[in-house]
Amino acid sequence: MLYGHFIEHFHRQIYGGIYDPGNPLSDKDGLRLDVIEAMRRIKIPVLRWPGGCYVSAAHWKDGVGTKRTAHFDKAWRVEEPNTFGTDEYIKFCRKVGCEPYICTNAGTGTAEEMSDWVEYCNLKTWGQWAKQRIQNGNAAPYNVKYWSIGNENYLDGEIGAKSAAEWGRLVTESAKMMKRVDPSIELSAAALADLDWNINLLKNCGDKLSWISLHGYWDGIWQTNDYGNYGACMVYTNTIDAQVKKVRGTLAALGLDHIRIAFDEWNLRGWHHPNVDKGLGPDDYLAPRDLNDENRRYTMADAVFTACFLNMLNRNCDIIGMANYAPVVNTRGCIFTHPEGIVLRSTFHVFEMYSTALGETVLDTFGEEVPLFSTQDKQGGNAETPALDLVTTLNKSGEVVIGAVNKDPGKTHTLRIDWRGSSLDAAPVGYSIHTLSGKSTESYNDIGHDQAIPEKPVESAYKAGDLISLAPHSVNLIRFINQKY
Ligand code: AHR
Repeated sequence: MLYGHFIEHFHRQIYGGIYDPGNPLSDKDGLRLDVIEAMRRIKIPVLRWPGGCYVSAAHWKDGVGTKRTAHFDKAWRVEEPNTFGTDEYIKFCRKVGCEPYICTNAGTGTAEEMSDWVEYCNLKTWGQWAKQRIQNGNAAPYNVKYWSIGNENYLDGEIGAKSAAEWGRLVTESAKMMKRVDPSIELSAAALADLDWNINLLKNCGDKLSWISLHGYWDGIWQTNDYGNYGACMVYTNTIDAQVKKVRGTLAALGLDHIRIAFDEWNLRGWHHPNVDKGLGPDDYLAPRDLNDENRRYTMADAVFTACFLNMLNRNCDIIGMANYAPVVNTRGCIFTHPEGIVLRSTFHVFEMYSTALGETVLDTFGEEVPLFSTQDKQGGNAETPALDLVTTLNKSGEVVIGAVNKDPGKTHTLRIDWRGSSLDAAPVGYSIHTLSGKSTESYNDIGHDQAIPEKPVESAYKAGDLISLAPHSVNLIRFINQKY
């Protein structure tokens, strides 16, 4: 579940994104078939919904039944029609073949409203909410396993923000009621790498949680949309696991070995939504949101950063059990929709390479003499960054598969593998390398413009000690072949 995704009721992610009734590319339920096909290609295991900031003032009961009540969405200051609600979301997840993961309203919502949602989704027939689901045409329970209590309630800007003390109590009472409905559900709660927040949360209800949620956006361009260039984005990779290290320590100190991290919102780029609090008219705060959908912006910087983050997730898979790219469709997503079709951005191909080829077992990897390259951070400060970022895995066929990233924008670097002590009784006899590099760091994909797509895998003979070359600004999946067939 490290290759999960997130979708929010924000701008064109739902309406005009995955849900596009009347478009000939949509099915009878109004769901975009080309988007579903693309999401199946990257084997999405879990999809978090409906927010994000949106959820902290949204009430799920407005989005079920034959009479949908539109509401003014105070998070994003638009009218939410509620025509895409729980039943449509579950239907979408079934078509994609992924697990649903529902984030509840702990802003203006209550423990009762959250547990009623669990009743609606998971009780067979008892109570009014299961009966409503049946009345709405869905006899069998949805058995939604993953639930999150709240979204970023630690932020002042979040509707229904809470103090650390308030948060521990609210999550405890909400978890208690939700688990009374269905003790089998796995609960997460909004958190960050902050000791006070987490200690209050975990001391109050660590026994009721299976997950702790973290979010991360590194190029914080929410207001300015001033994209960090390739070099600046590589500097971000030097601290890509900072939050994980801190939370790992907190969980260990509290002895909460049963809790894992759900990094359930992450993206290199913060979403652009300026003037939410002060924009006087829709032009002030709505029009700028279209700037998230300029495909030329999603270059090899985004692809290389994404691969480094997936490497970090795999290297820490003993404590990170889920991650959700934010979002999957439109805004900063890996899939862009337009009325006649979709664009698969550079990041889509990273997800396809990793979700289809990286192994399920992660092996310890030790590197020496990793070359550094000089670059500048976004503030113009000089920084030295390791050129290579690796994760080593074993796939189901017993083959070693390495996710290898060369972050250096200008230089090819080589890899020499030392097989002594490996689980193999002899070095492999060959390898296949699958590379995504683009023609330059600025390569991107758009309608009729495919510059950032992977080359065909290349197979080579191999003997221990051989050097393997990694192209500049490249993401590589190297699969070692144990014996020639
Ligand atoms: O910028 C989008 C927001 O990022 C999401 O709604 C929220 O969860 C996070 O702060």
